[in-house]
Amino acid sequence: MLYALVLFLHSYQRWLVLGLAFAVAVRALARLRSPAPWSLSEDRLHAAFVWGMRIQFILGLLLYVLLSPISDAFLENVRGALKVTELRFFGLEHVVMMVLAVAIADSGRARSKRIQEPPLRRRRVCLTSGVPLLLMLAAVPWPFMPAKRPLFRSPPGAREVITEVAACPPSYQSRCAACHGGDGRGDGMLAGSLKPAPRNFGDSAWLGSRTPAELRRVIREGGPALGLSPLMPPNADLNDGELDALVTCVSSFGKAQ
Ligand code: HEC
Repeated sequence: MLYALVLFLHSYQRWLVLGLAFAVAVRALARLRSPAPWSLSEDRLHAAFVWGMRIQFILGLLLYVLLSPISDAFLENVRGALKVTELRFFGLEHVVMMVLAVAIADSGRARSKRIQEPPLRRRRVCLTSGVPLLLMLAAVPWPFMPAKRPLFRSPPGAREVITEVAACPPSYQSRCAACHGGDGRGDGMLAGSLKPAPRNFGDSAWLGSRTPAELRRVIREGGPALGLSPLMPPNADLNDGELDALVTCVSSFGKAQ
């Protein structure tokens, strides 16, 4: 599944980029006053850092624009989402800070190439790797932050075992599990910041109160279609077969538990 894979790569590429940013900044700082010519190894390290940032940016862009249910939920209803810490963090704060970091690193690379004097070049390189490093450190979802994420993600596929119990298509994992939880209990990683929180799909009294047509409608059109929270995002791009599969999936949790 593409979402889990890109998320996994994005999570680990973070360590590479942070490490490179640190190495570039410290090395330039240590040689700030040195008249020695700008060396090939300094240049390679700097290039590796900037390319690492660019790759990380592309992975992040893929998540934001195409894959992540979090940015979908954010963009679907920005006003409401700004009040939900986690949606605001990934929908806005994380992206703005990181785009700024990439822009500084990238323009720093281009400009430093045009500087002839080694000390001046090192100063520029130190600044345009040090500032992105600080921005990144501030905007990574560390485990001590409200929008916390694991330091070391488990590889994609590891957590999908549970949904095999219920009759769910892969789209459930990529579009729904973040809020509704892998096994539909309403305990996805975003659930804590949603008010009202998603219900437990395993509750048979609830299931009995909803017709399949209603489930289909709320999945397709979003929460307001049934008078529920707008943070339940619409999925208008799904075709009939995919919608039916999700209705079956949601209704199957009660039977699986
Ligand atoms: C950003 C979080 C989020 C995502 C992603 C999300 N939902 Fe929801 N969903 C909610 C919330 C919150 C509610 C409860 C709204 C309420 O009770 O007002 C909800 C409600 C529902 C309901 C109605 C439950 C009821 O009370 O009748 C269904 C069905 C549902 N979601 C299915 C899905 C499916 C299927 C997907 C994936 C295609 C999905 N949701 C994706 C947050 C989300």
